[in-house]
This record gives sequence, structure tokens and C-alpha cells, in this order.
Amino acid sequence: MKFLLSLTILVAAIFVVYGSSASWGRRNSNDYLLSRQVEVRSPIKNNYWNVNVDFPRAGTVNYYNISAIFVYDNFKNTSGAAPALWSGGPGFRFAQINLRSQVNRGLNSTIEIYGR
Ligand SMILES: *[C@@H]1O[C@H](CO)[C@@H](O)[C@H](O)[C@H]1NC(C)=O
Ligand SMILES: *[C@@H]1O[C@H](CO)[C@@H](O)[C@H](O)[C@H]1NC(C)=O
Ligand SMILES: *[C@@H]1O[C@H](CO)[C@@H](O)[C@H](O)[C@H]1NC(C)=O
Repeated sequence: MKFLLSLTILVAAIFVVYGSSASWGRRNSNDYLLSRQVEVRSPIKNNYWNVNVDFPRAGTVNYYNISAIFVYDNFKNTSGAAPALWSGGPGFRFAQINLRSQVNRGLNSTIEIYGR
């Protein structure tokens, strides 16, 4: 039992580190899909990708309040990039999402931003 609990915590910890899908905020049924983009990078030998995704894209303006952000790891195994929300997000009109891939692994993540 104790072992099982430790295992669960370990798995949870791994999920936090390598958990490649994430979401912030809550999507309401009448929200608009403000942005959907797929970031794909090929693996770099002995190095990792650190990609910043800015919303709205440089040179564009967003008039909507963000309600939710979803990041999906398209690898669907544990080798995808770890997403983090670096600034903005729900309640703001901008967001910067960071994708950090694992060493020697590329990334393929989809970022969806909803708002109203
Ligand atoms: C966005 O949120 C602000 C502060 O909550 C609110 O004043 C504003 O009306 C909202 N804008 C839209 C387009 O809903
Ligand atoms: C990235 O993932 C999407 C969704 O699974 C897939 O359709 C696409 O082919 C992938 N892109 C690459 C370059 O692997
Ligand atoms: C995870 O999936 C991706 C895409 O299918 C693949 O390129 C990669 O080698 C896989 N990683 C592992 C550790 O199996």
C-alpha cells in the first residue's frame, strides 16, 4: 500500500516534469477560438528547444480577454516538450507560452487560446 502510494506520487512527479499537455483557465461554451497553432521542431543533438510562443503574434492586435489556454503534446508519449505560461494568460489579452523540449528530442505541440 505504501509502495503503491509512493509509486503514485512518483508517477505524478514525473507527470509534472514531463507532463507535456497543460491548460490554464476555463473555457466557456460561448468563447471564441482566438488562436490555434502547431509548433514543430526537429531534435537537436545534445541540446533542447526553448520556444516562446507569443499571443497575439507580433504585429497583430487582440481585443479579446483570454479565458483559457490549452497545450496539447502531439507526441502523446513522455518525450514531448514541457509547457509553461510565462506571462499573461486568462484574464489578460496577451500570453507568452514557453515550450521546453527534452534533450535530443524534438517537439510537436498544439496551442489553443480561447477568449471572449
Ligand atoms: C475584459 O476584461 C476586462 C476586465 O475584467 C473588462 O473590463 C472588459 O470589458 C473585458 N473585455 C471584453 C471584450 O470582454
Ligand atoms: C504533429 O502532430 C500532428 C497531430 O498529431 C500531426 O498531424 C503532424 O503530422 C505532426 N507533425 C510532425 C512534423 O510530426
Ligand atoms: C514519441 O513519439 C514521437 C512521435 O510519434 C516519436 O518521434 C518519438 O520517438 C517518441 N518517443 C519515444 C521515447 O518513444
